[in-house]
Amino acid sequence: MSMHIAIFGGGQLAQMTAQAGISLGFTFSFIVGEGEDTCCVDGLGNIVVFRQGMDAEALFNALKKPDVITVEKEMVDTTLMAALQQYTRVSPNDQSVYLSQNRIREKNFLRHHGIPTAEFEIIETQEQLESLPQRLGFPIYIKAAESGYDGYNQWRIQKQEDLSQVLLSDDVVLIAEKHIEYSREISVIAARRVDGDIVYYPLMENRHEDGVLISTIAPAPQTVKILEEGAIAYMETIMSSIDYVGILTIECFDTEQGLVVNELAPRVHNSGHWSIEACETSQFENHCRAIANIALGPTTTKGVGGIVNMLGKHGRPEDFAQEGMFYHAYGKEERPRRKLGHIAVLADNHMDVIDKLNKVLVFLYKGRYKTL
Ligand SMILES: Nc1ncnc2c1ncn2[C@@H]1O[C@H](COP(=O)(O)OP(=O)(O)O)[C@@H](O)[C@H]1O
Ligand SMILES: [Mg+2]
Repeated sequence: MSMHIAIFGGGQLAQMTAQAGISLGFTFSFIVGEGEDTCCVDGLGNIVVFRQGMDAEALFNALKKPDVITVEKEMVDTTLMAALQQYTRVSPNDQSVYLSQNRIREKNFLRHHGIPTAEFEIIETQEQLESLPQRLGFPIYIKAAESGYDGYNQWRIQKQEDLSQVLLSDDVVLIAEKHIEYSREISVIAARRVDGDIVYYPLMENRHEDGVLISTIAPAPQTVKILEEGAIAYMETIMSSIDYVGILTIECFDTEQGLVVNELAPRVHNSGHWSIEACETSQFENHCRAIANIALGPTTTKGVGGIVNMLGKHGRPEDFAQEGMFYHAYGKEERPRRKLGHIAVLADNHMDVIDKLNKVLVFLYKGRYKTL
């Protein structure tokens, strides 16, 4: 069955989704903003530039009437998404994307469903800002409620003086989060089909440096059953309560009290890139399957997988021409901290995967980031 899928966004997530979908016989269009770089998706389908004032009907027609519209990012106009639903299926729906666009909405939603999150406050006055440590202790995470990602628009406050870096303004709502004591960061990915079927990927263990994902190992080492069951229960609750369709990612902290949820991403996720080589069905393929409402593929692993992100500067592909290593470059130009690609690894066991990830870290970063 051929289907035409339109994606809001034209970055590497759209690229890898289209690559997976094209193998299924689907065709793609990408909706980008004026002047947006399309290097990741050039050659993979039509590119439609969304111009101010364009309405849902005009966009739907410019896209040549896609069978389904999806997103590769959170920051999409959800009013437009809702209006597009009169013309075609939009998966995930506008409500799911709306929830994830704002940390306050997201946390309130999670708490409403009994899912633990960090304690937080919305910062409204200078006095409240200065007295945060009395209530939340140190460190404190101050984050823009909207438009923050990869550690941008974020401060980690370790002492009273650091608070002077934080400027309150009428334009940006800030929240303060209490520090969560965690042993590691875990993400959970699942795909839910239009008809409600769900498949889960194994839990993933992630390491961040300066607020950016640097490496993932999957399945997460030493995962006890109860942790996995907790993750599945959260996922089921969230997905069914908002009638979620597509891949959903939940970022969590692994704590002594179980998983505490940090963020939701209504899309395929950087921590799931290992699934291209290490799973029967990648997150990208299952996203396409879910939104097309065709049978989801098995998420069985072929071994232990992992990735290291290639940030800021390209590595030399020949360094990674080794068994069980896979070099992915997204076609972007180098820029500090920018995600330019990733190196995936696949091995029979965790020790060998960690060994390979460490080699990759050294090749790419030459000691700048510590090994695992
Ligand atoms: N409340 C918290 N307690 C402990 N660590 C945190 C907390 N909030 C954020 N972090 C750290 O900062 C990283 C980035 O924060 P996150 O909320 O995920 O923002 P982003 O949208 O930039 O990914 C997290 O992955 C984690 O390492
Ligand atoms: Mg995050």
